[in-house]
Amino acid sequence: MSNYHIKHLEEYYQVYRKSVRNPEVFWEEIAEEHFMWRKKWDNVLSWDFTKPEVKWFEGAKLNITENCIDRHIYTRGDKTAIIFEPNNPNEDAQHITYRQLHDKVCRFANVLKEKGIGKGDRVCIYLPMIPELAISVLACARIGAIHSVVFAGFSSSALATRVKDCDAKMVITSDGSYRGSKTIDLKGIVDDALNDCEGVESVLVAKRIHSEINMKEGRDHWLEPLLEEAYHDCVPEIMDAEDPLFILYTSGSTGQPKGMVHSSGGYMVYTGYTFKNVFQYRENDIYWCTADIGWITGHSYIVYGPLANGATTVMFEGVPSYPDYGRFWQIVEKHKVTQFYTAPTAIRALAKEGVEHVENHDLSSLKVLGTVGEPINEEAWHWYDDNIGKRKAPIVDTWWQTETGGIMITPIPFATPTKPTYATLPFIGIQPALMDEQGQEIKGNQVDGRLCIKFPWPSMARTIWGNHQRYKDTYFSAFENKYFTGDGALRDEVGYYRITGRVDDVVIVSGHNLGTAPIEDAINEHPAVSESAIVGFPHDIKGNALYGYVILKETGESRNHDNLRKEINQLITEQIGPIAKLDKIQFTSGLPKTRSGKIMRRILRKIASNDTANLGDTSTLLNPDCVQEIMDGVL
Ligand code: WT7
Repeated sequence: MSNYHIKHLEEYYQVYRKSVRNPEVFWEEIAEEHFMWRKKWDNVLSWDFTKPEVKWFEGAKLNITENCIDRHIYTRGDKTAIIFEPNNPNEDAQHITYRQLHDKVCRFANVLKEKGIGKGDRVCIYLPMIPELAISVLACARIGAIHSVVFAGFSSSALATRVKDCDAKMVITSDGSYRGSKTIDLKGIVDDALNDCEGVESVLVAKRIHSEINMKEGRDHWLEPLLEEAYHDCVPEIMDAEDPLFILYTSGSTGQPKGMVHSSGGYMVYTGYTFKNVFQYRENDIYWCTADIGWITGHSYIVYGPLANGATTVMFEGVPSYPDYGRFWQIVEKHKVTQFYTAPTAIRALAKEGVEHVENHDLSSLKVLGTVGEPINEEAWHWYDDNIGKRKAPIVDTWWQTETGGIMITPIPFATPTKPTYATLPFIGIQPALMDEQGQEIKGNQVDGRLCIKFPWPSMARTIWGNHQRYKDTYFSAFENKYFTGDGALRDEVGYYRITGRVDDVVIVSGHNLGTAPIEDAINEHPAVSESAIVGFPHDIKGNALYGYVILKETGESRNHDNLRKEINQLITEQIGPIAKLDKIQFTSGLPKTRSGKIMRRILRKIASNDTANLGDTSTLLNPDCVQEIMDGVL
């Protein structure tokens, strides 16, 4: 029996039991046999969730890029590591072999060094889905610089917030990006952001759309000539297992985004191991995850997990709807994709367009389908199963988070029988717990509660950059000695988990995690607004959409409400990005509040969702009258 590659349900249960009975022995074996270390650890695990402090493979030395690149050169140097599929289907795809990837990453790493970047420095990467994005991520890892990738759909002020929070010394971007039929002026966005960021010494600019842009003398440099001149080999920086590998921001229910800090050793082991099993990756498979590398899904399951396994990973620059709704399936056919991993929102959007976009493509290469980012509804699950997998490719509904670094609850294809809308069983080594509101663990099956994890796993985030207290408060304070996920879940009669959604003030819109507070802050900056509250409501395609209740400073008909709505969404676009725009904005004279002044979002959520049958007792509110007003004005 191989603990590294699980193939049957029985094997899953056996390995699972082993991994929870004796986690240290288990993870030591996985780490030792399947990864390359410059020095072994002194201690497999030490942890204390009260501080909280977690260390895996303490004392070990490694460089993750040696695991993701160098070691494959001897066995599969001419194998394709990355297939780049451009936005425009008429532009040729690029196949980058492991040997070429080594060359490119080393050159890039040398450019970083030449520009003064060293171990521990933060580098912010704001790039579209072009090869330079994966290469720059790996180049940072090569020299021990901490990368912080910011999704290139975020606005300049969201970018500035992130650059400043981690005090980045460098930004890597491109002249612009292609997105379907549009081009986006990325460099202009970076320039705006950097007006406000003094710590940034240099900006590297990749050429993608060949647009006219401003290059600031002394600060901005075109990437290509630097890469050409750079030396093609670079000795990897040897890192401690616990040295930070990257920071990735995720929104919180309040205030500033949280810079989740991930480790070098534990993150590598867990993403590598999950990738192999969750996608049942075999040599010569062609794996495609449609996420953007700006999100954790892309970090773990486009770059690090696949490359650690010597896999071929597809990077797609474009969108599912361009030039038409068959684009995904055309790519699957073209590259003979074997594993396909996407989000429920994409599945729903494509299902709506009809099967004719699917039917004219040969999808017979597909062996495993995956979904991630939000709960998948039954209808979308079946559409995916029937039309894409033709009921032959198992669907892995993978639940995890930016904070968890890797997949936590998931079927193992061909081993775990799937069940629509269920993420099914905890992955090897993961110990979930459902908690009641009194803080007690709910044992047994057919129960639901708040989802916690009660034992550390190798890829968990170690802290929030610059704010360990917030890390403790957010994840380790709600339930004693447990990591709290922010999600609710139920466990069925056989122990399968179904994630029911967020139980905090985070709304998942089209698979994007959005905190309501930062959006409210943006709206409240509008001079006409005095107060606002955002909630999520169900949406056919996006899963959830945002509903805003807004109180104006001056009531009456003096302002055009439609214009105000536009201005509010414009402000949100500027401060956060278009993904956070509100679908509906209702103006009201009051918001339901408790006597202590806290907005009762539960009531607002119900009204926005047209679920007003059981609003509960509203008479104890500070201002019960406003509830009727809001119900009468609901959009
Ligand atoms: C939140 C994390 C890490 C993947 C990308 C999102 C929701 C994620 C599922 C799933 C139901 C899911 C949860 C989670 N979520 N996957 N398979 N079923 N819900 O990462 O932006 O950190 O968001 O996404 O609510 O807490 P993220």
